[in-house]
Amino acid sequence: MKIFLDTANVEEIKEGVSWGAVDGVTTNPTLISKELKGGLTFKELVTTILKIVDGPVSLEVTGLNHEEMVREARILKSLGENVVVKIPTTVEGLKAIKILNKEKINTNATLVFSLSQALLVAKAGATYVSPFVGRLDDIGEDGMNLIQDIREMYDNFGFETEIIVASIRHPVHVRQAALIGADIATMPFEVFKKLISHPKTDEGLKRFLDDWSKIDPSKLKL
Ligand code: G3P
Repeated sequence: MKIFLDTANVEEIKEGVSWGAVDGVTTNPTLISKELKGGLTFKELVTTILKIVDGPVSLEVTGLNHEEMVREARILKSLGENVVVKIPTTVEGLKAIKILNKEKINTNATLVFSLSQALLVAKAGATYVSPFVGRLDDIGEDGMNLIQDIREMYDNFGFETEIIVASIRHPVHVRQAALIGADIATMPFEVFKKLISHPKTDEGLKRFLDDWSKIDPSKLKL
């Protein structure tokens, strides 16, 4: 399963990429708005991110009609080969995805909350689909059930749209995504960090080093 970072924070992206386990980045208008401090512009921020990440970087359009979405998508795509254009899952979004698919501009259908939405965006030719599992959990549904259903449906019919499990809140979501066979899990840096931590690893390492320190150093010359 590919791992994407769901952040527009340059330091987090640099750190994650240095771990060798980050395959891409997703952003949204909320995440971008948090990072545009001081005089930094959207273009400067995005250009920096695109240079760090050797993989798809999702950038979201904000227009509400398909003509505006397509116009924004072409501009976003001009910023880098690895740009994926995030399109909201609406009727206008479907129209935009269809046009962008013909232009070979990769799209990520975002704000997906139902199987029927996932079906329609795949039919329109979305490269990626982003069901928001955490936000479904928030309203008393089980977000991972939707991932399971989309996986089954895409496999039934051979849809090539890749499933990005989005709105991930904790490592259990990541574990479930991997076991279901989702293509990608996108997560905040805080969740990504938790994937490597284990108290037994820390405890074991401490014991190894404590025991090692008891050896007479003269015996350890190589
Ligand atoms: O970027 C889309 C999605 O991952 C947002 O997650 O935590 O705001 O529901 P969240």
